[in-house]
Amino acid sequence: MGCIGKGSAVSRTVVALIGYGYWGPNVLRNYMELPSARVKWVCDARPERGEPITARYPSVCFTTSYDEVLADPEVDAVLVITPISTHHELTMRALQAGKHVFVEKPMATSVEQCDDMAAAAEERGLTLMVGHTFVYSPPVRLVKRMLDAGELGDIYFVTSSRVNLGLHQSDVSVIWDLVPHDASILHYWLGEVPSSVSAVGRSCINNGIPDVAFLNLRYASGVIAELQVSWLSPVKLRRTMVVGSRKMLVYDDTENVEKVKVFDHGVDFKEPTTFGEFQLSYRTGDIVSPKIAGSEPLLLEASHFVECVQTGARPITDAIAGRAVVSVLAAAEKSVTSGCPEQL
Ligand SMILES: NC(=O)c1ccc[n+]([C@@H]2O[C@H](COP(=O)([O-])OP(=O)(O)OC[C@H]3O[C@@H](n4cnc5c(N)ncnc54)[C@H](O)[C@@H]3O)[C@@H](O)[C@H]2O)c1
Repeated sequence: MGCIGKGSAVSRTVVALIGYGYWGPNVLRNYMELPSARVKWVCDARPERGEPITARYPSVCFTTSYDEVLADPEVDAVLVITPISTHHELTMRALQAGKHVFVEKPMATSVEQCDDMAAAAEERGLTLMVGHTFVYSPPVRLVKRMLDAGELGDIYFVTSSRVNLGLHQSDVSVIWDLVPHDASILHYWLGEVPSSVSAVGRSCINNGIPDVAFLNLRYASGVIAELQVSWLSPVKLRRTMVVGSRKMLVYDDTENVEKVKVFDHGVDFKEPTTFGEFQLSYRTGDIVSPKIAGSEPLLLEASHFVECVQTGARPITDAIAGRAVVSVLAAAEKSVTSGCPEQL
């Protein structure tokens, strides 16, 4: 069955969204708001997912056939919003059909798959972007600007807690589900891949699928980071702390207004001039919460993807960023099993 769709495709990127499960509807809602894009297709392997789409968005065509989407010459780009195990295959098929691809986090299940996808996109000159949504969130952007401007001084360490009584996944561990957020934020902020990752985890509810994990990352620059992730927690925490030589900050994504607080706090070490003299001076200055725009990260992410497709610009969360995150996840998973730190 063909699909004519409605609206002019002139200067609008025509997209097809694959996977209309839990996350797909959020992505679709944002693409429907984008003047630079037109969603022509939604494709899901489950036929019953078509009904809510055609009822709410009559201009969008639904199909269960990925082949039908890829065979449509009008489709410029494909959005892969399916489970992680399908990312590599669906992305490769779309690239081979000459379509630009946005693929949800994490990019794939191994670094080898990421390399394969990156090479296929490069060869064809197609855009390949990974859905590291937090990189498009205004508070994360603000912290990036502060770090780049050297406001915090040298970064000593980062800690992060991403825990709540969350949706237990049946196919992936909490590492593959939640760590992509923190690993992508760290990659964006620090601009480097950790040199080693060690992790412990435990499968409390579902045997063989860890639902709690604690990761320790080391970077060549000297920065160390600790990430806590869990689907088992009495409270929801989305809190990251960055401690630098000049200032420190807390980024709390559960806060409605004051998501980032910058503390002019620190400790200065004075070189001893005489034997036995050891002086530290403690500084507790202002605490400032900068104003942050309330824009929706998913809309900014969608807009960036379409802009990259239209201009040929390289996405901020490109295949290199996608690979960097997957390398952390793979190393963490290995470390949980081996009990040893993994070098990257
Ligand atoms: N960026 C974020 O903040 C964020 C948040 C949640 C989920 N995600 C990501 O979104 C992706 C999807 O997660 P979800 O929770 O929506 O999963 P889900 O299982 O709820 O939905 C996936 C949908 O894909 C469909 N599907 C699977 N294989 C298909 C195929 N070959 N062709 C067509 N349809 C197919 C399934 O029928 C299902 O409806 C994952 O990669 C996940 O990590 C990202």
